[in-house]
Amino acid sequence: LISRAFRHQFIVPEFQDFCKDVEEIYWKCKDNQSGTVASYIPQLKRMDPNFWGVSVCTADGQRYSIGDVHTPFTIQSCSKPLTYAIALDLLGADVVHNYVGQEPSGRNFNELILDHNKKPHNPMINAGAILVCALLKTLVGPEMSLAEKFDFTMNYFERLAGNEDLGFNNAVFLSEREAADRNYALGFYMREHKCFPTNAKFRECMDFYFQCCSLEANCDIVSVMGATLANGGICPLSEEKVLKSESVRDVLSLMHSCGMYDYSGQFAFKVGVPAKSGVSGCLLVVIPNVMGICLYSPPLDALGNSCRGVQFCEELVKKFNFHRY
Ligand code: DON
Repeated sequence: LISRAFRHQFIVPEFQDFCKDVEEIYWKCKDNQSGTVASYIPQLKRMDPNFWGVSVCTADGQRYSIGDVHTPFTIQSCSKPLTYAIALDLLGADVVHNYVGQEPSGRNFNELILDHNKKPHNPMINAGAILVCALLKTLVGPEMSLAEKFDFTMNYFERLAGNEDLGFNNAVFLSEREAADRNYALGFYMREHKCFPTNAKFRECMDFYFQCCSLEANCDIVSVMGATLANGGICPLSEEKVLKSESVRDVLSLMHSCGMYDYSGQFAFKVGVPAKSGVSGCLLVVIPNVMGICLYSPPLDALGNSCRGVQFCEELVKKFNFHRY
């Protein structure tokens, strides 16, 4: 970063000006009072609807944060692109996509459906993410216990975040598992159709999925993960190559087409960059080769995306030409 500074070669050269615009959009979105906080488990229901944080980390490590950027939240579905990325990196796309498709489902994220091959549509919806967790658990280091696999995965996530420590919210994990009728239904439905790899231990795979959803981070940390994805798999802070560039390409492709629930098509049209939202109100946005952004605000719209998060993205592309096309 310092040598780039001397050479005046930053990816976002006028970063201060950019930050001023981000700040302006931040305040504009703060007034947005729409949406409701997720209520299916008490730990999410209790979240303060006023929390609002924005963190930016560029692909060369310049950073800007405003608002509640240190407030911890469970990453929920923002774990889906990350577990998918690890599975791709360690198993290869051919193996992973023997089990899960690449097509937007056009339905809710937890809808009880499989595609015409009786596979989950994609890794960004619950069925696909449960199966990706099953692949990670069963096929990557098959000798590892669930405890070891949890540590292994958390460590991978931490490396994506430049070795920041992640947390684990046990109350959320226990509640998720307790309130998981639909996820179990998806799991059983997939087991009926022989979607899981042979030798998969069903209960452990389900627990592993709930555990990944219950990992805890904050806006600052998740923005660095986004920057690593924006930077082809090299973390701009640690300079470690955490993911292969092919894996990153695949992850971003599916975040682009499937990352925003049943709003993905409209989001791709209007905003035009890969993103993934989670039910805690987090939104991971990647502007390839430029920056990662994390937005956090718990009130969700009817489709499950953070209201302020989506508004922020729409305002940002009005101001800056980040749309891929
Ligand atoms: O599986 C669930 O219902 C949640 N823990 C996952 C949440 C989420 O963010 C919804 N996503 N696609």
